[in-house]
Amino acid sequence: MAGAAGARVKGKFMLDTRISRRAALIGAGTVAAWLGSPARALLKAVGKVQVPAFVDSLIGRMTLEEKAGQLQLMAAAWGGGTALSLNPASAGPNFHQQVEEARRGMLTGVFNGNGATMARIMQTAAAKESRMKIPMIFAADIIHGHRTIFPVPLAEVASFEPDLARRTAQAAAFEASGAGIDWTFSPMVDVARDQRWGRGVEGGGEDPYLGSLFAAARVEGFQGADLKSPEHLLACIKHFAAYGAAESGLDYNVVDISDRRLREVYLPTYKAGFEAGALSAMASFNEINGVPSTGNHWLMTDLLRGQWGFEGFVVSDYTGDEEMIAAGFAQDGRDAAKLAFLAGVDMSMQSGLYRQFLPSLVRSGEVPQAKLDESVRRVLTLKAMLGLFDDPFRRIDVQRETARSMLPQTRALAREAGRKAICMLKNEGGLLPLPRSGRKIALIGPFASGQHDLVGPWVVYGDDAKAVDLATGVRAAVADPDSVLVVQGSDIEKRLAGGVEQALAAALQADVVVLAIGESANMSGEAQSRTEIVVPAPQQELAEAVAATGKPIVIVLKHGRALALEGAVANAHAILATWFLGTETGNAIADVLFGAYSPSGRLPASFPLRSGQEPYYYAHKATGRPNPPGPLQPYKAHFRGIPNAALFPFGHGLTYGRIEYSGLAQSAPTLPMNGAIEIAATITNRGTRAAEEVAQLYIHDRVARITQPVRELKAFRKVALAPGQSTVVRFTLRSTDLRFIGPDGRWIAEPGTFDVWIAPSAESDGVHGTFDLTA
Ligand code: NOJ
Repeated sequence: MAGAAGARVKGKFMLDTRISRRAALIGAGTVAAWLGSPARALLKAVGKVQVPAFVDSLIGRMTLEEKAGQLQLMAAAWGGGTALSLNPASAGPNFHQQVEEARRGMLTGVFNGNGATMARIMQTAAAKESRMKIPMIFAADIIHGHRTIFPVPLAEVASFEPDLARRTAQAAAFEASGAGIDWTFSPMVDVARDQRWGRGVEGGGEDPYLGSLFAAARVEGFQGADLKSPEHLLACIKHFAAYGAAESGLDYNVVDISDRRLREVYLPTYKAGFEAGALSAMASFNEINGVPSTGNHWLMTDLLRGQWGFEGFVVSDYTGDEEMIAAGFAQDGRDAAKLAFLAGVDMSMQSGLYRQFLPSLVRSGEVPQAKLDESVRRVLTLKAMLGLFDDPFRRIDVQRETARSMLPQTRALAREAGRKAICMLKNEGGLLPLPRSGRKIALIGPFASGQHDLVGPWVVYGDDAKAVDLATGVRAAVADPDSVLVVQGSDIEKRLAGGVEQALAAALQADVVVLAIGESANMSGEAQSRTEIVVPAPQQELAEAVAATGKPIVIVLKHGRALALEGAVANAHAILATWFLGTETGNAIADVLFGAYSPSGRLPASFPLRSGQEPYYYAHKATGRPNPPGPLQPYKAHFRGIPNAALFPFGHGLTYGRIEYSGLAQSAPTLPMNGAIEIAATITNRGTRAAEEVAQLYIHDRVARITQPVRELKAFRKVALAPGQSTVVRFTLRSTDLRFIGPDGRWIAEPGTFDVWIAPSAESDGVHGTFDLTA
């Protein structure tokens, strides 16, 4: 990241030491004290985040109500409360009342509001007309783009290219900050190993190592080198913690988890995000072992602040504080506010409980005044770091909002990200890429055409109508657009009268069928858990009927999770996992279909054989009765009729090259404790087309005092290979890469034998070796 090094110290941001005129004016009580002093003396250091002196001066002059107001965030009421469309409806004030609240200092900010015009009105009320003149902060769910929509986060992880995520986050920040937004509720970094859970689509997949790299990259992209930049946003690590471990994949469900698994699998991605400099966090809805995250002092204070040294602020997820009542943890609203606040949640979103109860909780002595001041200090400091005290309107400019929206270069990045996210799961007989001319194509399915389901879940400001659908992308790529017959065939979740007949008629006229089927945008995302992670029945019927024609079929899947593919879908000649690719959907898919781009995406989540295997993840344990390769054996760990393996495993993805792995080489047979070993392999493209291969290094600790996963990803590298080209990929493995949480709860690496693979996926052989870790 250009210029980042100077501004950041170990991932934390240093506050600019200059204090603006405006800040000086609002801290008028201390003006005399600081005017004559060197700027540096005006800053009070709290760890690496610097609290400007004027902040304490402000706090000294605020009423309890104003302080509680700084800890209350609400959904924007602008536009009749459209901000609420992505969350449960809750009665809020109208816009006029909300502006009045801002003027009275009762509101720290709003989220998911709409644009610079709204922000200007509200900011004027807060920063110019309120007693304390404290600027508001404008937040939004910028999950995978603002107006230009990039692939859903899970899809982007399929690129195995964290730098791509850094670039799309930066581009999203550029657009969003132009529209008056200061703070994004992103990245979502919850590890998700149960594909029934709908929210895996927002995150980094099933693997903590890969997920951590993407968490860090996204934070860096959103925040840039300096939070004051009017082209960047404050990032928010969510949902803290272990939201992805919801029992049975049911959204909002409880998490009951061992301390070891929590620390080894679920916590690393959050930590990576904080280490990359994220200065806000969102509490998760779930409980962990009986204690809701929102009221969990151990999580929010002991771990986050104590052990990890987090210096930003924590916000509740929506009405998460109030929800502790239904969960049976809090008596009533007052109790919920007290529990959440004392646990370490600085800011309440949407419930209004902090504003309602914190003043009286302080007056009664149940909440210490100093603790209230501490949370207000954190929030005001972040507002200062965002440059809002210098210029509350720095990100609010109606003209800039339009000028930055959907620029050609941003759309080009969306197309690049789109094609890099596509995973080619199967390509029998080299059916793909399709020739651009000389073939009749039947493009069939509910996702074949139309301005729907393109931008995908969790989009506040994007618009399907501005996105390129598949039919448009395909027609633009072929020599003769009339060679493409487009037929819907089926609705997404119900049959279409005459649909199958029309599909068959088109298929019979065609040389090849492209079948665009899968999930709608609202089948994944929040509250969209599924019991069966399959292609919906009417579409499966369509696929079976079309397959009976005997025509070659390319399945183009639309999906927000890994799916259990069956029958004609699983048996198709070619399968592309294309997720939700956003604004450039049709063009990105066409790039891959017709060979302008050789697919390079790799699955960030395993496709199981059947839904009933969930949670299925590659890094599972062997058990005492693993089923050996080959036919199922009695009394072994498998399901009736199917092995406990993936249909398409984590890391899987084919290219238009023909890739061969050979010659595993190690720098030594042993790895000394505290030392390193180099592992290398030769990767050759024996095909006739250029390709990008993602070589993945996995290890397995054969015997340990705590049983270890059958494989764990430790490194990967994406390499470009021309036809006939070979390259040697080298990895350095350190003994610290082999650590796990030992019997006494501490991270250890144990001497012993390790398997190592450099392989094209988590369940393929690639090349294999062993080494011993020596004491
Ligand atoms: C609830 C979601 O869980 C969270 O991810 C989102 O940021 C908030 N609503 C605000 O929209």
